Amino acid sequence: MAKQLVHMSVNGRRIEKAVEPRMLLVHFLREECQLTGAHIGCETSHCGACTVDVDGQSVKSCTHLAVQCEDSEVLTVEGLAQGAVLHAVQEGFYTQHGLQCGFCTPGMLMRAYRFLQENPNPSEEEVRAGMSGNLCRCTGYQNIVKAVLHAAAKLQQTEKVAA
Ligand code: FES
Ligand code: FES
Repeated sequence: MAKQLVHMSVNGRRIEKAVEPRMLLVHFLREECQLTGAHIGCETSHCGACTVDVDGQSVKSCTHLAVQCEDSEVLTVEGLAQGAVLHAVQEGFYTQHGLQCGFCTPGMLMRAYRFLQENPNPSEEEVRAGMSGNLCRCTGYQNIVKAVLHAAAKLQQTEKVAA
C-alpha cells in the first residue's frame, strides 16, 4: 500500500515519516522512532502496556493508527523525566516498589501521569478505577496504588511551593 507522510511532535521533537496507513502508533513509536518503552502485551486492547499520552489524553497506542495522529502532540515514557530529574510518578513507582518485571511500567507511568492531572487528589478507590485500563501480572497492584498516591502528594507539595 502507498505510504503516507505523517507529522507529529513526539516528546517535543518534530517528526516527519512516510508510513503505511495501517501502521499502528505503537509500531510507529517503537520501530520508526526507536522509542521502545511502550510495550505490547495483547491484541485485544486490554492490557494498556502500550499507553501513551496523545493531545492530553491517555491512549492505547496499539489501537490508534500513526496516520490518525497527524499533527498530534505525543508524550511517551522516555519524555517524562526532565534531564536527570525523575517525574513524580517515576519517583513514586521507584520508592514504593510499584514494579517488578517492568513490562507494564511505561504504560502505568503514562496513565498515572495523565490520571493525576484529571484527579490531582484521588482516593485509593479512585486510583484503582483510574488505572483500571492497565494490567500487571507481577505486583498485585497494591504498591502501584501506593506509588500513585505518593506521586499525588509530591505533585501537590510542588504546587504549594510554587504558589
Ligand atoms: S498492547 Fe495491550 S492494550 Fe495495547
Ligand atoms: S511489573 Fe511485571 S507486569 Fe507489572
